[in-house]
Amino acid sequence: METRNRRAFLANAGLGAGVLALAPLAAQIAKVSAAKAATPGEGYAFDTPYNRLGSDCVKWDQAKRDLHMSRIVAGMGIADMDFRCAPVITAALRKRIQHANWGYIDMDSPGPRAFIQAIIDWNEKHYGIKVMNHENVGVTTGVDGGIKTALRAFAPPGSKVLLTTPIYDGFYEVIRGSRLSPNECLMTWGKGRYEIDWDEFERHMTPDTKVSILCNPHNPSGRVWSKEELTRYGELCLKHNIIVIADEIHCDFISRGNTYIPFSTLDDKAIVNNSITFKSGSKTFSVPAMKCAWFFTTNPKLYNELSFWNYDADVSTLGIVAEHAALSGGEQWARQCVAYIDNNHDFCNEYIKANIPLISVGQKPEGTYLVWLEVSAIADRIGAQRLADVENRKPQHFDILTGGPAKVTAETILGQWFAKNAYVALQPGTIYGLGGQNHMRMNIATAYPVLKAALDSIASALKNLGQN
Ligand SMILES: Cc1ncc(COP(=O)(O)O)c(C=O)c1O
Repeated sequence: METRNRRAFLANAGLGAGVLALAPLAAQIAKVSAAKAATPGEGYAFDTPYNRLGSDCVKWDQAKRDLHMSRIVAGMGIADMDFRCAPVITAALRKRIQHANWGYIDMDSPGPRAFIQAIIDWNEKHYGIKVMNHENVGVTTGVDGGIKTALRAFAPPGSKVLLTTPIYDGFYEVIRGSRLSPNECLMTWGKGRYEIDWDEFERHMTPDTKVSILCNPHNPSGRVWSKEELTRYGELCLKHNIIVIADEIHCDFISRGNTYIPFSTLDDKAIVNNSITFKSGSKTFSVPAMKCAWFFTTNPKLYNELSFWNYDADVSTLGIVAEHAALSGGEQWARQCVAYIDNNHDFCNEYIKANIPLISVGQKPEGTYLVWLEVSAIADRIGAQRLADVENRKPQHFDILTGGPAKVTAETILGQWFAKNAYVALQPGTIYGLGGQNHMRMNIATAYPVLKAALDSIASALKNLGQN
């Protein structure tokens, strides 16, 4: 089983044209040798584990410390990748640090203007977005930071922000941190994937709901919304005067056979005009610590209001240098990386279905590098809820997600269990809001040997729980 999977993995790790959503990219990818992309030490060596321990990173160092792990096989939590970044990024950063002054950057000078042009070109070339120009694109410190600024601009104090849950935990932080509250519309689970219940969605469109954050591709479910779904989402928001903030940060991670539809390319111009899109190279090129993202909208009123609150002086020079280099010269790296992740998804989905009956996964995720695991059978066996209840009788700290006392959930206990018994760090499902119960999120953006070691370690730990 393992040998077969491994062979299939290596065969697939070549950059087959079907991996990518858009023809121009696929054509370029076909030129890259399959063997080169897959062989350790060659190409960009995605297959070679890159040791991040000791680099003060959240994914490995913080997880090991906070979960009191005696050793760690894999950090599989926060959404960044374990690979060495694209060489063009490192080269550009090296060049910039030769000039030893770090004063504020002028966003109207040639460097930042060329960066904005690179953003426009990348988005038109790869996703067919034709509506971006120098008058409607802005740069910000990150997608979370940008969304927080948008909430400040568009969500009146005390109002609600509509979400389809379970959803990215950072949204709860920016919503609560803006003194707003989440309006959670639980998605339904059907045909091995999540879907939006449209009647429920509309029922949540209360008069005090002024903004909705759309996540496409959706973290943590891995859904890549279809044109019909996006149109329906947009129609309903327009009808109820709710502005759509489209977070498309995961848009490059699209699994074979799926297509990313940017919200800004929908046919109905009124729907598009009612939206602002946030994107970044921070997921695609795994440079979130560089603090750089961009937003755009076809609606000048929304653009001006958002730009009023978005301070140019907050922008990081190195962030611009890194992302500019990535968009200008990192395309092959990104395409190989996306193909590599897609193969990790195939392997992971098959491995869990074949070898870990106590964990249930649906269809292979349509996008992102995240896997949403259903773990209720494990929760039952370790008595996770009972252990959480014991913890909750002790004094608690403040919790930003709920706005109340921090609550230990069964999923927190599950996270501790995986750390202690399988030496892997996963994210507890409950941080993703309503619907996150009985789930854990796993980040598979790592070298195949690390992914395999992590899955083997989980399977082996679960054997002791009576999994056959
Ligand atoms: C959907 C989504 N939006 C935003 C972010 C954070 O983006 P940034 O680091 O640019 O603030 C993440 C990070 O995981 C994410 O998954």
